[in-house]
Amino acid sequence: MIDHNTVQQILDTADIVDVVSDFVALKRRGANWIGLCPFHNDRRPSFYVSRAKGICKCFACGEGGSAVNFIMKHEQLSYPEALRYLARKYHIEIQEKELTDEEKQAQTEREAMLMLNEWACSYFEKQLHETQAGQDIGLTYFKERGFNDATIKEFRLGYSSEGYDDFYKAAVAQGFNPQLLFDVGLCIADGRGGGRDRFRGRVMFPIMNIAGKVIAFGGRTLKKDKDIAKYVNSPESVIYSKRDVIYGLYQAKREISKADKCFIVEGYADVISMHQAGFKNVIASSGTALTEGHIHAIRRFTNNVTEMFDGDAAGIKAAIRGVDMLLKEGLNIKVLPLPPEDDPDTFVRAHSYAEVEQYIEENEADFINFKSSVVLKDAKNDPIKRTAAITDVVKSIALIPDEIARMVYAKECSNMFSMDEQAILRQIKHYRGKYQEQWRKERQQQQAREQRMAAQSGENVPQVVGPDDMPPAPLPDDFTPEVGPVETSPLATAATANVANGVHVQEREVIRLIVNYGMCYLADTQYEDGSMRPTTVLEYINNELMLDSMSFSDQLYLRTFEIAKQYITPFYSDLEEFKVKLEERTRQYIAEEMAKTDDEEPEALDSAALINAQERKEKNVLAKANVMDNNEQTEYRSGYLMKVLCSIDDDDVRQLACDLATDNMPQLSKIHTQYAVIVEERDKLQSIVPERIYNWKNALLVMRINEVKDQIAHASPEQLPQLMEQLQELYGVRHKLAAIIGDRVVNPK
Ligand code: CTP
Ligand code: MN
Repeated sequence: MIDHNTVQQILDTADIVDVVSDFVALKRRGANWIGLCPFHNDRRPSFYVSRAKGICKCFACGEGGSAVNFIMKHEQLSYPEALRYLARKYHIEIQEKELTDEEKQAQTEREAMLMLNEWACSYFEKQLHETQAGQDIGLTYFKERGFNDATIKEFRLGYSSEGYDDFYKAAVAQGFNPQLLFDVGLCIADGRGGGRDRFRGRVMFPIMNIAGKVIAFGGRTLKKDKDIAKYVNSPESVIYSKRDVIYGLYQAKREISKADKCFIVEGYADVISMHQAGFKNVIASSGTALTEGHIHAIRRFTNNVTEMFDGDAAGIKAAIRGVDMLLKEGLNIKVLPLPPEDDPDTFVRAHSYAEVEQYIEENEADFINFKSSVVLKDAKNDPIKRTAAITDVVKSIALIPDEIARMVYAKECSNMFSMDEQAILRQIKHYRGKYQEQWRKERQQQQAREQRMAAQSGENVPQVVGPDDMPPAPLPDDFTPEVGPVETSPLATAATANVANGVHVQEREVIRLIVNYGMCYLADTQYEDGSMRPTTVLEYINNELMLDSMSFSDQLYLRTFEIAKQYITPFYSDLEEFKVKLEERTRQYIAEEMAKTDDEEPEALDSAALINAQERKEKNVLAKANVMDNNEQTEYRSGYLMKVLCSIDDDDVRQLACDLATDNMPQLSKIHTQYAVIVEERDKLQSIVPERIYNWKNALLVMRINEVKDQIAHASPEQLPQLMEQLQELYGVRHKLAAIIGDRVVNPK
């Protein structure tokens, strides 16, 4: 564990241009540096480095990030390892934070295990390609399955030989501790002081985490024998938790976020075959039900998932069972039943890319509708079975967080089962209530556990700080409409309800502005005490959100926002320090320039003209210094939060920040740089920021209006007047919001 101040010092010192230059030849172009991307086979320079922003990005393959990210990726290091690398490079002495004995143990064990797995993975790859048995048995098998060389390489497939302890011996000879081999599960202690190989005689599928580190293996037998398990997998360990890892995500993540969709299949072979066939946004559940951890991982890249499964009865049953968790997490789920007898692997191999595409187009179906038709068909005309079938579907619908979606499904369900829509809605409400009760309990238990653990480790549970020390708005699972006069802002409740996609886009845009320009000066704002104070983009956004009790519904954005706010106070003191240094530099600059001017002074002028010229020059220099000063401050402000967030020790936040920071880096062809006038977004913040906030509010309002309209459609006569009133009020707010957007452009001082 590296001490916090050291981390700060490393991040402050590391110069991205300098760091990247150690691996890539860079040339200056305008404000950026460019070179050949080290992460893919780049022919023309696509790799951009921005010193001011402290980030780099490849516009061809999308790789990039802060100096820390670059080193993590390029050198295949963990976060702390990358920091150590940078510390060595800049001769910064590392202050270690005192670790408890258990922490030390866990730390070194993790790193040792990862190192061992990496070595083992290359060992199995070598066995596959370079030994006779590997080629004859393993490689032949893969080739028969239709995997080509590039695919085998990309997924790092391997072969583990038949011998009892071939791998064990090789690893021990390499210097690995036998206990480590047992702990990571590659070998099993034989009780006689030796070990046997877990995966002997199997082809190897390494399982990687999202960063591409090998954390486990799946080994498939090549024998037809029914008594031998088809797959053997690494056991759970310090580095491998089945609950959190999805097979193929590392290889698929970029395509998933590009397509904004992912296919879920069952097996390793399915992922690999689909990938090779050109469908690269595909991952495997590895034959188990998806957990919250899995969904959390998928969610970083998309909300849209399509489950593919075998079209036989067993496949359909399994598909229906596995989806509850996805529904509950609010993902948009579709299903793609394949023809009976086929699985994704055989299907894509038997058809061309275009045929598969067409099949998807024609057969992809909404999950709830699909489930309804399946259970309905099962029930036939048996009334008891029909009741059970409806309940089954209703329970699924009740899991969906979005109220509008639930209503739409209720309607469809009522048509399909020929049942009264109101009755179905009542049922949904009943089950939703039950779920919420259950989830509340689970959350409480979870919180209690976390608090106990925090108390034990002596750490404080992180506190959210806002200007008025406002507690963050609670996030109820559901939005229950208030009947009667609305006291708080109409946006408040909508913001906490689970929001539709349009809102999510707006949230992303606002968090993007925060990451890129959070500490930039926006305007002087009047505070409650009447004083005028300069406000940053982040403070402005924070104030606007508090005014309407709004908050981010996306948990990752929310976390990023909360972290950003914690940097407001440190920012101001760092800024003061920066200004002092800057002033010193400016003074020096002025002195130098004035001295220069003196040298060049022609002698022939009379003294009055001389004084005049001197004054004019001084004015000039001062003006220039002033501009430089302003520019430097602007650069400092705009880089501050971005650098912090792009290098923070929170994988998800760091990734998000890097993605958002590189979103708006201009991708410039040669021609464009010469002729195009680049209008910097940064220079237009006074209009952009309020406009984006407005868009977000508007999206929330539209959603609220739709919700109320829907309630009106189902309301009883007594409820109607109040709902109508509520609707009128919302329309009124929307009207006002539309009117003020014209005035929402704040004026800088
Ligand atoms: N699985 C497992 N252990 C088993 C069987 C299956 O872990 N004994 C997991 C594996 O992750 C496997 C997935 O469940 O990839 C799906 O199983 P299956 O369809 O049998 O495997 P495929 O990968 O399709 O294998 P193949 O096509 O080679 O038979
Ligand atoms: Mn298969």
